[in-house]
Parts: sequence; structure tokens; C-alpha cells
Amino acid sequence: MESRNWLIITILVCSVTLSSCRELKVTVKHKHNHKQHDSAKYNHTLATILVQYASAVYMSDLTELFTWTCSRCNGLTEGFEILELIVDVKWCLQGFVGFAANLNAVVIAFRGTQETSIQNWVEDLFWKQLDINYPGVDGAMVHHGFYNAYNDSSLRPGVLSAVQLAKELYGDTNIMVTGHSMGGAMAALCGLDLRLTLGKQQKVQVMTFGQPRIGNAVFASYYSQVVPDTFRVTHGNDMVPHLPPYYSYFPQKTYHHFPREVWIRDLAFGSFVYTVEKVCDGSGEDPTCSRSVRGNSIADHLIYYGVEMGCNESTNTCRIVMDPGLAAYGSTDVDGNFIVLRDPPKSVLKLNTDRPRQSTHLGLDVLIRAKHTDFS
Ligand SMILES: *[C@@H]1O[C@H](CO)[C@@H](O)[C@H](O)[C@H]1NC(C)=O
Ligand SMILES: *[C@@H]1O[C@H](CO)[C@@H](O)[C@H](O)[C@H]1NC(C)=O
Ligand SMILES: *[C@@H]1O[C@H](CO)[C@@H](O)[C@H](O)[C@H]1NC(C)=O
Repeated sequence: MESRNWLIITILVCSVTLSSCRELKVTVKHKHNHKQHDSAKYNHTLATILVQYASAVYMSDLTELFTWTCSRCNGLTEGFEILELIVDVKWCLQGFVGFAANLNAVVIAFRGTQETSIQNWVEDLFWKQLDINYPGVDGAMVHHGFYNAYNDSSLRPGVLSAVQLAKELYGDTNIMVTGHSMGGAMAALCGLDLRLTLGKQQKVQVMTFGQPRIGNAVFASYYSQVVPDTFRVTHGNDMVPHLPPYYSYFPQKTYHHFPREVWIRDLAFGSFVYTVEKVCDGSGEDPTCSRSVRGNSIADHLIYYGVEMGCNESTNTCRIVMDPGLAAYGSTDVDGNFIVLRDPPKSVLKLNTDRPRQSTHLGLDVLIRAKHTDFS
């Protein structure tokens, strides 16, 4: 087996956690633009569910993610079954693939790289260049940092194999891909890749939160043809969707968002605050949505639909917490990265068919016990 720069963990879990739902007071105001011609409709309920997955993927305790018992693994994501957890140490990326029975869908969520502070990361976004061609599409330019983080890390092979596994286990279901910030860029590239790889008959929905621009106008237009069922949620004055910059007097040359933006804003009347959602036009750069305000807020980037996003720096949610007990299941490569697999990679697809589910549970029990022994 070739040397791998990543840690990949595959596990089947039947876990149920129920905790209190987050309360959120929302007034939904849909403004359907007459130019809207594709069939995808923004679904507020779905957005409030997917945002919780995009939030949970930031959690660093792998055992808690496996068992779906992390502090953000509750509420509307109850009963989620993780199929695969991908932790790419080299690229500092994390993602998971699992099945959500209440959505009857495979859910894929990504968190982005954040080795430096969010402030530094956002400042760097300004300077990102449109420097590589999206393969196979004339004139479609993207930023290499986003493209390579998906294509050259463990994310792509990890996701594709887990999706195959999910298809064997659950049949042909919808796939919903989500992520926040850089993770939103990963989600979009993944959604596009899944449609191109699995074909147009595969239903793929993408919903991102506070996502930066990833490519130029040609890329945006190609993207929206291939993945029309995409919503790009922006919040108030969140800075990140404004970056890298778009120059309206030079629309073909600069970065350009793909549609369809949904702009959420908190309006205050005295002590009463309510949220307005606006479904934007099909251009990707609706001047009456988030572009109508200054992108000057990091705080708005870190909360969507009342859900805390990103890393909680005070509790180190973005470190990768590697349970020493997990080391027994893996090995360390020459770069010092962990490879942890429940089974050799080649047998991943057979995990559920060859073995009784019971053995999966036993394996998991071992993991959890190891954690308690080592940390208590
Ligand atoms: C919106 O999504 C929720 C959750 O998936 C679903 O139950 C509901 O039927 C959807 N609403 C519409 C109008 O499609
Ligand atoms: C994407 O990854 C594949 C290997 O998985 C590689 O052959 C290809 O060159 C990459 N594409 C780009 C544009 O870097
Ligand atoms: C981070 O975690 C601490 C401790 O759990 C909590 O009090 C705080 O509200 C969290 N959120 C942020 C944004 O710091």
C-alpha cells in the first residue's frame, strides 16, 4: 500500500443522541425572483438542519464524532450515523460522510483549514489568485489552494469510497453536501465532483454557509449548470463571502460567486430582533443581497441561524484530538501522520456486508473504553 499523508478512519456506528433543540425565532420572507427558472427551492428547515452538520464537523474529538455525542452533535441531527470520518493532518482538513435517516440522505460535511487565526485566514483570502484551470472546462479558473485541498488531499478518495459504501447500504439516496467557510468551498467542489463522477441521475444538493468565492464567472456558470440545487447562505456583514474580491466593472476577469445566494440578516427593532431571509437572484452576484452591505464582520461569519460555527478557540475545538486508544487501530507514516483504519482500506466496502453489525459495535466499544481508560 502506498504511503499516505493522512489519517482516515472508517467506522459504522449506530448512535443516537438526543439533546435539546436550539430555539430560533425566524421570520421567513421569500422573495422569488421572476428570473428564477431552475427547480431548486430554498428550504429553510433543511438549512437549519444542515447548518448543524456544518457546525459539528469542527469538533475535534474523533471518538465523540464517531458516536455522534459531541456537544454540537444534537438537536436536529439526532440519529445521524457516521460512515466515515476523514482527518487530513497534512492539509489540516476534516470531513465526514454519514446517513441521516430523517432526511433520507447521505450527508457530507467539511471543515476547512484553519492553522492560523481566523483573522489571518480572512486577510489572506484577499490575495488569492485565480491560478488554475478547472479540469476539462475551457476558461474556468479557480484558486489552486481550494482546488488542491479537495483534489489532492485525502478528502476526495475518502468521500468517493464512503459514497460507494453508502450506496450499498442505503441504495440510491440523495446526497447533501455542506460546509462553512473554507469547508463551504470544499463542499461546492465536492458536489461538483460527485455530479461529474456519478452522473446527472445522482441527486446532489449543496448548501454552504459563509463561503468564499472559489472561481471566475466561467467556473460559476459551469458549476451552476452541473449542480443547480445549490444554496450559498450568507449572513449579515460576514466578510468571507466578499472575498476574494469581485469587481463589478470587470465581471469576467475576477472571482465570481455561483448562485443561489440566500442572505440572512438580523433586524433589530428596539429589543426585538428578528431574522429576514432573502433568496437572491440567479446571477450569483445579486447586488441587493450581501453585496449591498460592507463585508466587515467576523462575528457574523461565526454564527449562522443562531448556530455557532467555526472553531471555538477557547476550547480548542480545532485541534485534532487523537485518542491514544485509537493508535492501536492504526500506524504512523514517515511524516508522523496517523493512518487509522478499522480494516485494511481494500475491505472498507466489505465492512458491512462481510461482518455482522455486532462486531462493529464491539469495535466501537473498545474505542470508547480505551478513551475512558486513557483519559480518566
Ligand atoms: C424541507 O426540508 C424538510 C427537511 O428535509 C422536509 O421535511 C420538508 O418536506 C421540506 N419542505 C419542502 C417544501 O420541500
Ligand atoms: C487531481 O488529482 C489527481 C489525482 O487524484 C491528479 O492526477 C490530477 O492532476 C489533479 N488535478 C489537478 C488539476 O491538480
Ligand atoms: C466557546 O466555549 C466556551 C466554553 O465552552 C463557551 O462559554 C463559549 O460560549 C463558546 N463560544 C465562543 C464563541 O467562544
